[in-house]
Amino acid sequence: MCGINGAVGLKNISELLFEGIRNLEYRGYDSCGVALMNKTRLILKKDVGGVEDVYRKHNVLQLQSNIGIAHTRWATHGKVTQNNTHPFASNDGNFAVVHNGIISNFRPLRDQLQKEGFKFSSETDTEVLAHLLEKFYKSSRDIEKAFVKVLNLIEGTYAIAFISSHLPGQIFCARRESPLMLGIGDEIKFVGSDFSAFIDHTKNAVILDDGEYAILSRDTYVVKNLLSREEITKPITKIEWDSETSRKGGYPHYMLKEIYEQPQTISNALDLEASGLDEIVELFAKSKNSYLLGVGTTFYVAKYAKYVFSQIAQEFYPSISSDEFRVLTNLNKQSLVFSASQSGETFDTLSALKYAKSKGARTAAVVNVMGSSIARLVDKVVLQGSGPEICVISTKAAVSQMVILTVLAMKLALKKKAITRKTYNQHMRALQELPEIIQGILNERSGFIHRLAHKYSGTRNWLYLGRGVYYPIALEAALKMKEVAYVHAEGMPGGFLKHGTLAMIDDDVSSIVFVPPPEDKSLYEATLHSIEEIRARSGFVLGIHFTEQGKNGALYSEELILPKVPPLTAPLIQLVIGQLFAYFTATSLKRNIDKPRSLAKSVTVA
Ligand code: BG6
Repeated sequence: MCGINGAVGLKNISELLFEGIRNLEYRGYDSCGVALMNKTRLILKKDVGGVEDVYRKHNVLQLQSNIGIAHTRWATHGKVTQNNTHPFASNDGNFAVVHNGIISNFRPLRDQLQKEGFKFSSETDTEVLAHLLEKFYKSSRDIEKAFVKVLNLIEGTYAIAFISSHLPGQIFCARRESPLMLGIGDEIKFVGSDFSAFIDHTKNAVILDDGEYAILSRDTYVVKNLLSREEITKPITKIEWDSETSRKGGYPHYMLKEIYEQPQTISNALDLEASGLDEIVELFAKSKNSYLLGVGTTFYVAKYAKYVFSQIAQEFYPSISSDEFRVLTNLNKQSLVFSASQSGETFDTLSALKYAKSKGARTAAVVNVMGSSIARLVDKVVLQGSGPEICVISTKAAVSQMVILTVLAMKLALKKKAITRKTYNQHMRALQELPEIIQGILNERSGFIHRLAHKYSGTRNWLYLGRGVYYPIALEAALKMKEVAYVHAEGMPGGFLKHGTLAMIDDDVSSIVFVPPPEDKSLYEATLHSIEEIRARSGFVLGIHFTEQGKNGALYSEELILPKVPPLTAPLIQLVIGQLFAYFTATSLKRNIDKPRSLAKSVTVA
C-alpha cells in the first residue's frame, strides 16, 4: 500500500508536496519519488529510502514548480529498487504517473506495449499506465480521452494521479478501491491518499468514489463519472482533525503518544452518541447470524468481542479474519457482518463487506477515519473518535474499539433482558473508571515496565498466554511485540500448553501470562495451572496479575502487579501493559518504532 499526493497552485509547491508525502509515509516507506513540471518539462527525482533521505539526496526542495505529484512506496510488485520507484515516465517524457493498488492485468498489457516498441524500465504493474497514456494520447490528441481509455482497459484496484507536459497546469486522478481524495484550497488544489496529505493547507476535502476521475487545476476542479463521463457535484467534507493533533506533541514516538492518549480516547468512546450505538444493537438483535471481522489487530478486536458478546449478552458471534470470511460463511438476508477497522481502507475487510452486501447481508462497522471507504460502504457505522493514529502499530484505536464493542454487548444484553439495568450500570461504571486507572498505570508503572522490558530485551522467543477473554489479549499483545520489536511472540490459549507446546519450554522460551483477577475465579485458577506447568519445567514466567505482592511469589520469575479492577475491564488494562512492554523492548533494541520494516498502516491491496 502506498501514499500518493499532488498539488497545483499559484506559488511554488515543492515544499507542500514534501510535507504532504512525508505525512503519508506511514502508508509505506520503502522508496519515494516526485515529478515536477518546469514550465513544460517534466522533472523526475526518485530513489530507494524514506522521503527525507530522497529529498535531501536529490536536492528536491531546490526545484521550483507550481505543479507536481509525489509517491511513497510499500512494495507489492517488484523489489525495492530505484527503477521500481514511482513516478513512472512515458518513453516520450510527456507523462509522469503514480499509483496505489494492483493492476491485475498488467502482464498482457505490458507484453502488447513491448511488441509496439515501448521500453520498460521497471518490474512494476504501474509502469504500464505511463506508456498507455502516451499511446492513447498519440491517437486521440486528447488527454482526458486517453485517460478514460486507460481506466477502462485496466483491471484491479487503483488510486492514480498523473501530470503531463501537454497540459502542464492540470493533475488527472482516479480511484477504484484504493482511497483518493481532493484538497480544495484557494488558488491551490491537492490530491492525496488521505487527509494528512494536505491537512496543513486546507480542511475542505472531496472524497472520490470508485469509478470517478477528477481533473484539478489551480483555480478549479471537476469530478466525472467514468462510465457516463458526466460531471458530478460532490459534497465538500470538512476535516475535523487539526495537524497539531496529528503531530507527536513532545513524545519520542507516535506509538508512545498514542498509548498515552488512551485515557482520553476511551472517554471519547464512552461519550459516543447513544442513538448510533442503539441502531447497531438493533441490527445485532434482528440478525439470525452475526459475524465479527477484522484483520491484524482488528481481528483480535473481533476475537475479544466474541468473548464479550458471549459472556455479557449470551450471544455467540464467530470472529473471522476478513481474508478468510468468504470461504467460511453462508450469508443470507438475515445475516449481519460487523467489522472493526482503524483506517477504514483495509482491502481484505472492504472486500469481505462488499461480499456480504452482495449476499444481501446487513453490514456495520466501527472505524476511526471519517469518510473512509468502509465508513461509507456499511449500513451503519460508528466513528470511534480516537483521533489520528499515525503509528503503524495500532494501540489506542484497538482499545477504543474493544470498549465500544463492550458497550454494544451490554446494550444488547439489556435489550434481551440477559442482564438487569443494575448490572448494566455496574458495567458502565467500571468502564467509566477505566481512563483514570489507565492514567494511573501510565504514570506509576511505565518506569517499572521500561526496566523489565530492557532487562529481557534479549529474549528471542516469547509465549504469550491467556485464558478466555485474555486469549485475544495475549494474541494482540504478542502481535505488538512482533510488529514493533521484531521479536518472535506466540499468543496462545493457556489451555493449549499441555497439548504439545510444553515440549518447547526451556531456557530459550520465556512466557508472559495475563492473569485474570481472583474474582474471575475459574479463569484465575486455570491460568495459575498453566503457570505451574511451565514452572515445573523451569520455564521463565512473567506474571501480569492483580493479586497482592508475594501471594504467589514462588509462581513467577518476574511479576507486574496491577491495581484491583472489575473483571470486565481487567483484560483492557492487561493489553495496555502488553503495548508498553513491546514498546520499551523495541526502544531497547533501537527499532524504527513508528514505521517498522515491511509493514504499512493499512494494506489497501489484496
Ligand atoms: C495492518 C496494520 O496492515 O492492517 C495493522 O499494520 C492493522 O496495524 C491491520 O491492525 C488492519 O488495519 P485496519 O485499518 O483495518 O484496522
